[in-house]
Amino acid sequence: MDDVTRAVRAMYEEFPYPAGAPMVRVASDVRLLLGRGRIAPPAGRPLRALDAGCGRGVGVLGLATLQPDVQFTAVDMNRVAIEEARAEAARRGLGNVQFAEVDLMTLEGLEVPEGGFDVVYSSGVLHHLSSPARGLELLRGVLAPHGALVLMVYARHGREPLYRLVRAIDAIAPRTLPLRDRLAVGRALAASEGADALRAGPWADATTVNDVEFVDRYLNVNEVSYDLDEVFALAEGAGLGVLGWCSPGDWDVTTVIGAGPLADQVRALPARAQHRVVEQLAWRPRFELVLGHAGNGPRPPLEREDLEDAVLAVSPEVSIEVRTRNLHGAQRTESVSLREGASASTVLAGPLGMAALLLRDQTLPFRGRAVVSELVDLGLDRTAAVDVLEELVARRALFSPHP
Ligand SMILES: C[S@@+](CC[C@H](N)C(=O)[O-])C[C@H]1O[C@@H](n2cnc3c(N)ncnc32)[C@H](O)[C@@H]1O
Repeated sequence: MDDVTRAVRAMYEEFPYPAGAPMVRVASDVRLLLGRGRIAPPAGRPLRALDAGCGRGVGVLGLATLQPDVQFTAVDMNRVAIEEARAEAARRGLGNVQFAEVDLMTLEGLEVPEGGFDVVYSSGVLHHLSSPARGLELLRGVLAPHGALVLMVYARHGREPLYRLVRAIDAIAPRTLPLRDRLAVGRALAASEGADALRAGPWADATTVNDVEFVDRYLNVNEVSYDLDEVFALAEGAGLGVLGWCSPGDWDVTTVIGAGPLADQVRALPARAQHRVVEQLAWRPRFELVLGHAGNGPRPPLEREDLEDAVLAVSPEVSIEVRTRNLHGAQRTESVSLREGASASTVLAGPLGMAALLLRDQTLPFRGRAVVSELVDLGLDRTAAVDVLEELVARRALFSPHP
């Protein structure tokens, strides 16, 4: 193990990341991710995923709970965190996740299934490696040809206020001091009333975050961050192509400047230039990308004329919420709404709500045509029924899994 890696391990073993309970992250469903690439996974065997740098396992434990038919391998070099995650998996009776102590700078000891992992997750890890480029190259080596690699690394511009506090702490309490001494200085600086430069954008909470989060953010012994061009270069340098953003809406310029002539002007620019505009205008503290092998490009978006023939499924990342009221001898549906991940829910009016109600219990993939027919039976004309399907795909409530 190299010296930088050893220092990173000591820090995370003292402050295993993150504090908190298992959770499910956006864009982490294995089938949804595989549906982003052109190449289908082979049929007839369970899907296999690797969490590379799982920490205390809060991500992978959520994933393994929700996807019991997927086999998860979770690795980290942090022995304290791995033990804790293993015990928590046993406590929850999870038989589909195994943990191992592995240094991502070598991958020694990692059991790679034949053909590679279908999905590799690397969330908040690569930027702490002594060589992120080498680490990503190694992960590409264990990714199946059809595989999807979810990469989250820090975005430099979106973290600028955070780096101000880092530089102030470094100036007062150099990195050679024990971590706990530096923590005390950092806490005091963060709480200073006049330190208003720190409290910009999403960084207003420096005084209230727990010690684990504080150390990870402000006292990290090894961290790099990227701008947009650098993160794409990192991926390409490792022989990976971009299948898309985990949350495409975050990088859509209309999310920042709204629709209108200015947005139209920006949208006439190449995609990367549009994303650069978002990077500069809005707080984006991280890049979250879905990557694939260069030979596995992004799947083209579904066109309207293909919708009826397409195999579709309800996205596991949306919830369809129905409000009902009990009346005497009957029940009235008052509203149907759709919620993606942790975002606020949107009420669906008219035919959209009708379709969402139909789809709520649809747990297996189906042909678009089947939904169109059901909507026609309920009184919609065919064009309106296809409109509804198109809208649900655009809202990412429906996706097209590989058969
Ligand atoms: C910020 S935490 C992220 C943990 C987890 N992915 C999550 O999102 O909750 C970074 C993790 O990367 C691990 N890590 C850093 N360098 C590593 C290396 N070379 N090999 C294995 N794990 C490493 C650390 O031990 C730590 O658990």
